[in-house]
Amino acid sequence: MGRVHSSAYRRVRDHFPDCAGEARLVVAADETEARAQAAVDQLGFARATTDWRDVIADPAVDAVSITAPNHLHREVALAAAAAGKHFWCEKPVGRSAAETADVAAAAERAGVRTIVGFNYRQAPAVQHAARLISSGALGPIRQYRSQFVAGYAANPQGALSWRFLRAAAGQGVLGDLMSHAADMAQFLLGPIERVVAHVETTVTERPLPGGEGTHFAVVEGGQLAPVENEDTVRSVVRFESGIAGTIEASRVTVGPQARYTFEVNGERGAVSWDFERMNELLVYLPLENGDSGYSRVLMGPEHPPYAHFQPGAGLAMGYDDLKVIEASLFLDSVVDGVQREPGAREALAAARVLEAMENSGASGAWELV
Ligand SMILES: NC(=O)c1ccc[n+]([C@@H]2O[C@H](COP(=O)([O-])OP(=O)(O)OC[C@H]3O[C@@H](n4cnc5c(N)ncnc54)[C@H](O)[C@@H]3O)[C@@H](O)[C@H]2O)c1
Repeated sequence: MGRVHSSAYRRVRDHFPDCAGEARLVVAADETEARAQAAVDQLGFARATTDWRDVIADPAVDAVSITAPNHLHREVALAAAAAGKHFWCEKPVGRSAAETADVAAAAERAGVRTIVGFNYRQAPAVQHAARLISSGALGPIRQYRSQFVAGYAANPQGALSWRFLRAAAGQGVLGDLMSHAADMAQFLLGPIERVVAHVETTVTERPLPGGEGTHFAVVEGGQLAPVENEDTVRSVVRFESGIAGTIEASRVTVGPQARYTFEVNGERGAVSWDFERMNELLVYLPLENGDSGYSRVLMGPEHPPYAHFQPGAGLAMGYDDLKVIEASLFLDSVVDGVQREPGAREALAAARVLEAMENSGASGAWELV
């Protein structure tokens, strides 16, 4: 994710020439020296360090990206806020709602601007869906269903990386994928009030990693150790508005690679989106001739911010482009002082939903958010 943020900063001016801010990549930290050096050799940073505190302490640094494993987010964010530095923090902002609350409070106290890596919100099709919902085009909303199911941890030989350990990651799929889905649900339909969830760990042990691999590293025949957090969650949610819905997340689903979907059904119409087809939105609005069923709408320049990336409909935007949009929002905020969404406050709202899901998994009952 450090690479993705770095590239996003470099690309902002290409796509958003009117962005108020411009990033200079001053200093990158990675505890692994070779990776820190790669930030200079490959990513365009002027300097590198193995201690993240050097980044915060550097007077030339106005703003920081927090892309380390989850357990460091709170500590780095609090240090950044205390030094008056704005931050772009990856999700989940904390290992728990309490940690996320600390970060949100620190940012508020220090008056620094934040943006959080709920990048899928930035997809033109998602923004279009949000406009259709809020304009009333679909009529009063009746149902919501969403899935974020991926297979990145489906192979039981996948190494026991930091993502599977409580101390390093906190929650499992709740923090990793459900955090996106909880944010999306609340972005589209407002606050979730209560949840009931089934929380499961399907792959209970994994081989210890051999070296400095990523969570995609596969280890054949290694020594096994326990997975400490959940990999699959199925939930029913009830929004404050009274609408009910379902949200499911898993990191061990064989088949889908990044099936991140939502469907919103109103009284008159519906929308349906799948990240695996990021640039399409299925829209159902009743036609005068009586035709029914979804129509496939291709994103084009009339669906902001698509025109910043491609000149005509049907050309593809990709995942990394969403991060360029996120970077431009962050730089705008740093310069004009206007807090944009999703920031630490929205991360806290999502974290509270995740906590209620975890509690419900243990209690077997509805839990208030
Ligand atoms: N928004 C998204 O779609 C998205 C996608 C992937 C990851 N993420 C988030 O980004 C964060 C990083 O995930 P990743 O997949 O890049 O992890 P990763 O394990 O690939 O990379 C983490 C990096 O942090 C470095 N590191 C570890 N401890 C450090 C320390 N004490 N000081 C400095 N550097 C340290 C590691 O050496 C490694 O280079 C996580 O919080 C994850 O949830 C978000």
